[in-house]
Amino acid sequence: MIPKEAVDEIINTARIDEVVGDFITLKKRGVNMLGLCPFHNERTPSFTVSPVKGIYKCFGCGKAGNSVNFIMEHEHATYPEALKYLAGKYHIAIEEKEITPEDIAAQNEKESLFIVTAFAAKFFQDQLWETEKGQAIGLTYFEERGFEEATIRKFELGYAPDSWDSLTSAALEAGYNIEYLDKAGFTIRNETKQYDRFRGRVMFPIHNLTGKVIAFGGRILQSDPKSPKYINSPESEIYHKSKVLYGISQARKAIQQHDTCNLVEGYTDVVSLHQSGVENVVASSGTSLTVEQIRLIGRYTKNVTVLYDGDTAGIKASLRGIDLILEEGLNVKCVLFPEGEDPDSMARRLSAYELQKFITDSAVDFILFKTGLLLEDTANDPVKKGALIRDIIESIARIPDTIIATAYVQQCARKLEINEQILFAELQRIKRKSIKQRYGEEPMAPPPTPDMQDDVLELVEENPLDYIEKDLIRLMLNYGNHEVIFHDDTNPREPKETKYKVSKLVIEAIQRDGLEFKNAVYEKVFTYFSDNESETDTDVSALVNEADEEVQQLCIELMSTRHELSENWEAMHKIAVPEESALLKRSVISVINKLRLQRVRAMIREVQLIIKDTADEDQLYVLLEKQKKLNDLKSSLSNEEGITVMSKH
Ligand code: UTP
Ligand code: MN
Repeated sequence: MIPKEAVDEIINTARIDEVVGDFITLKKRGVNMLGLCPFHNERTPSFTVSPVKGIYKCFGCGKAGNSVNFIMEHEHATYPEALKYLAGKYHIAIEEKEITPEDIAAQNEKESLFIVTAFAAKFFQDQLWETEKGQAIGLTYFEERGFEEATIRKFELGYAPDSWDSLTSAALEAGYNIEYLDKAGFTIRNETKQYDRFRGRVMFPIHNLTGKVIAFGGRILQSDPKSPKYINSPESEIYHKSKVLYGISQARKAIQQHDTCNLVEGYTDVVSLHQSGVENVVASSGTSLTVEQIRLIGRYTKNVTVLYDGDTAGIKASLRGIDLILEEGLNVKCVLFPEGEDPDSMARRLSAYELQKFITDSAVDFILFKTGLLLEDTANDPVKKGALIRDIIESIARIPDTIIATAYVQQCARKLEINEQILFAELQRIKRKSIKQRYGEEPMAPPPTPDMQDDVLELVEENPLDYIEKDLIRLMLNYGNHEVIFHDDTNPREPKETKYKVSKLVIEAIQRDGLEFKNAVYEKVFTYFSDNESETDTDVSALVNEADEEVQQLCIELMSTRHELSENWEAMHKIAVPEESALLKRSVISVINKLRLQRVRAMIREVQLIIKDTADEDQLYVLLEKQKKLNDLKSSLSNEEGITVMSKH
């Protein structure tokens, strides 16, 4: 392990512009540098490097980080590898620390599972290539399916012999521990006997991101109603089904290059498509898609194409899963294969070029695809059409980007031949409901305005608590060290001026009112500020280099807003200082007060609950009084954004 002091030295020495500059050409743009993003294809540069902040951020693909992250991402390096690379570049000596017995113990179990799983992978491959049965049964099966040798080797496919314990006994003989064979799912044990889980099946190993085998799917050779088509490894320390995508290690480079990921249903679809030259493909392996799997894709691209077999029943069942992809902010397209075909059969029939062209040409935007699909069923039945509209708008309501959501509403209105306003109203209703579900509270009713669309847009943006908390953190990170001025005119002959650091203002307000951040990551950033609060500037760069990845990513995201890193930066800073200070003061106070408003509302709810259960008249009177005070406070906070309340302190 690299000692902490060395890590700090490396991070403090490495200069982001030099580190990035070794790989891509950067041009100076104001205080920043600009170049073509190495992580996605682009012709106009949107990759920005801020030497002052020590970070990079691409406004095209969203990748962001510090020097260490850049090397990890660009060189596909691990954290220690990236540190060593930088240490080499800057001639920093590192003496690796002895690994302690505790380190070993923690690593041991996982490591043992990896090792025994690697042994099994090798065993199944040897069986396939080097035994008579393996060749006659397993290899023949793959060949009949059109899998070529190179493909079989690339996916490390194998064969599990049709015997009770060939793997278990081979592993025991080689000195492996039965505990681990059991935990990794290869050996099934009961009181009387132990036997192999996988018998008489062709084996599809499942790899993690770095290409290590973590589990298997074993396919039966001939269909048998008494036996499932696939037997899969159980969950283990190294295999968490919901976090893994079949094919990701073989696909990730291609996903990045094409900036899109094809999603299919089965192991065989992945292998076939890959062989036909469509390498940016993964499968969720029989389970419905999970949020973790979607986020895994989202690390490489924001574009997903879902490839469907040509049977509509299956499609309708999977529509909900796709809403989840939308919710994660990815763009989704769909390809519907002709009746009776699946990606695997199509890949075998078409040339690589034809297949790619088929996918590109028939990919339809998901929302429009779904609209079309459901529209077929409604046949001008107004009741069904009503349900359809609700269904579509529910999908649209998941899209976090308001501008995209709006565009969809307009397109669907045209397709459904329905007034846009009606769809916007429905969108508004659903959004309000989901906010309520998430935050347990009705957002303030927006004032009725003639322009329906604008007010829907505003509402869509409303994500009360998280949004407010994030905004406050954003202000702290970017303006924490700025000063704002308070005027005290109570004595007109002797007006007073007090200067306040923004971070101090926020910290005091939060602590005085006993407010807290619901989001743990925001809370960590806030704690950093309060721990380091003093008269001098708070060093924000430490947060950017913070080891906690969530904290780091949040800070980078919030510190690299578009204005700031673009040319507007300088223009913005030409604003005369007093004006900027006044603006800043208003923003900070308004955000603090929004947070207080949330707190006051929660307190009102609490009081109301107690009131319900109170029989004692005296106590009831006190409670009602309290409720009234809170309500007054609430309206003063929401009416004038509470600026007056605030400046009294
Ligand atoms: P499919 O039945 O489509 O399998 O199930 P497939 O891989 O495409 O196989 P072929 O082409 O018919 O030979 C899709 C996926 O669902 C999971 C597997 O991950 C499979 O690849 N599955 C299916 C199971 O886990 N168990 C089963 O019994 C069936
Ligand atoms: Mn299939």
